[in-house]
Amino acid sequence: MSQSLATVAYLGATILFILSLGGLSHPESSRRGNVYGMLGMTIAVAATVFGPHVTAAGLPWIIGAMVVGGSIGVYAARVVKMTQMPELVALMHSLVGLAAMLVGFANYIDPAASAHFAPAEKTIHQVEVYIGILIGAVTFSGSVIAFGKLAGKIGGKPMLLPARHWINLAGLLVVLWFGRDFLHAQSIDAGMTALTVMTVIALLFGIHMVMAIGGADMPVVVSMLNSYSGWAAAATGFMLSNDLLIVTGALVGSSGAILSYIMCRAMNRQFVSVIAGGFGTGGGAAAAGASGEQPAGEVQPISATETAELLREAKSVIIVPGYGMAVAQAQHTVYEITRLLREKGVEVRFGIHPVAGRMPGHMNVLLAEAKVPYDIVLEMDEINADFPATDVAMVIGANDIVNPAAQDDPASPIAGMPVLEVWKARTSIVMKRSMASGYAGVDNPLFYKDNNRMLFGDARKMLEEVLGVLRAG
Ligand code: TAP
Repeated sequence: MSQSLATVAYLGATILFILSLGGLSHPESSRRGNVYGMLGMTIAVAATVFGPHVTAAGLPWIIGAMVVGGSIGVYAARVVKMTQMPELVALMHSLVGLAAMLVGFANYIDPAASAHFAPAEKTIHQVEVYIGILIGAVTFSGSVIAFGKLAGKIGGKPMLLPARHWINLAGLLVVLWFGRDFLHAQSIDAGMTALTVMTVIALLFGIHMVMAIGGADMPVVVSMLNSYSGWAAAATGFMLSNDLLIVTGALVGSSGAILSYIMCRAMNRQFVSVIAGGFGTGGGAAAAGASGEQPAGEVQPISATETAELLREAKSVIIVPGYGMAVAQAQHTVYEITRLLREKGVEVRFGIHPVAGRMPGHMNVLLAEAKVPYDIVLEMDEINADFPATDVAMVIGANDIVNPAAQDDPASPIAGMPVLEVWKARTSIVMKRSMASGYAGVDNPLFYKDNNRMLFGDARKMLEEVLGVLRAG
């Protein structure tokens, strides 16, 4: 393939990636967005593999690597459960970081990579290598820790080292110092020392940064690492002088940054304070229950039959799904119930919290999979004011996102986070298996409210029972 044809193919792929991001911004167009993305990636890979920079001798290596990588990808996509998606995504981000690191080292060691550069260009190239490895290393180790936290292998409590901000600052200064050494290194060996020290510091920084962030703030970490992985890919593009990688990386990096901003706004957090760490479970003085006021009172259990009766008699119902609906895979049964109630003239709508579940858009994906019409799926801001005029608010496996302590208890780790005000409905029903707390590890006073009922059990099993009663009636 000639250089000009490859350039045209890259341009086409870039346009498809932009269309893909546009499509992914709405559930209705997301399928189309995915198709654009796949098409763009196929063109990009083909134009690179068969492009002017790959020699015939290199082709078998590339094809071999693609077969191995592709097989692992297909296997992972087939076996991974929907609830494991967030940790899979974190793992993928770590691979982008690792790739950027390895490309950086390979690029530095390979004299052919910079042989054709003039001295000034060589310095620029070295800066690219240094920054590329730095971003790659932070992304790699940060994503591995995020994977551990999302998979529950590492606890959600923030790890707060004494003088942690000073440690970070000292790390930054050492990285700058060795950066200067790196640029002035007379030999590859001398440069390697600086590069290795910086890489170790960057890896430790990535671990420290994510370890310091509490459970409640993990949504921001997920989107932030998404953004970092984009910048790591862009850095790889600079190192390899590949324009498409630079553009694609910048697209992912900036869309991840916008998503982080949206997540912060949804949780009423300052981005800088999230990154500085300490919020979330047990953060600083705000440990769970640190306010001294544990929610108290009696919870009032309800049966599936009574739930079905309440739903049948209601005029308006708002369903609030959370992580438990994903665990129970209850979305199809939820939709069956929704259909039945709508046929009986009950107004049923869904209220979606921006951080419900474990990844952005988690609930929207599940409801779309179950074919719930988009027009009855509303964002938190669109529906929150409607709870006082609602007969039944049905909470399915959600906890933190419906916790009134976020509004009432300034000492709560989730204080200030906007929540769905289900307790304002005439009756709220919370469907979960036990009295266990949610991801942020905070007690939930909602369970003890007079107008709240608890339907204990696996969400899918309980909803099937409710559906059975509704069908029989
Ligand atoms: P959570 O607060 O985690 O609560 C989920 C509840 O579901 C749990 O209390 C659990 O109670 C229940 N549950 C689990 N399995 C169930 C099953 N099979 N059947 C019925 N119930 C089940 O979830 P949420 O309300 O969706 O809030 C999301 C939380 O995750 C927030 O704290 C958010 O910050 C965090 N987070 C979000 C993201 C993104 S991007 N969305 C990423 C990382 C973290 P039982 O054990 O008693 O059943």
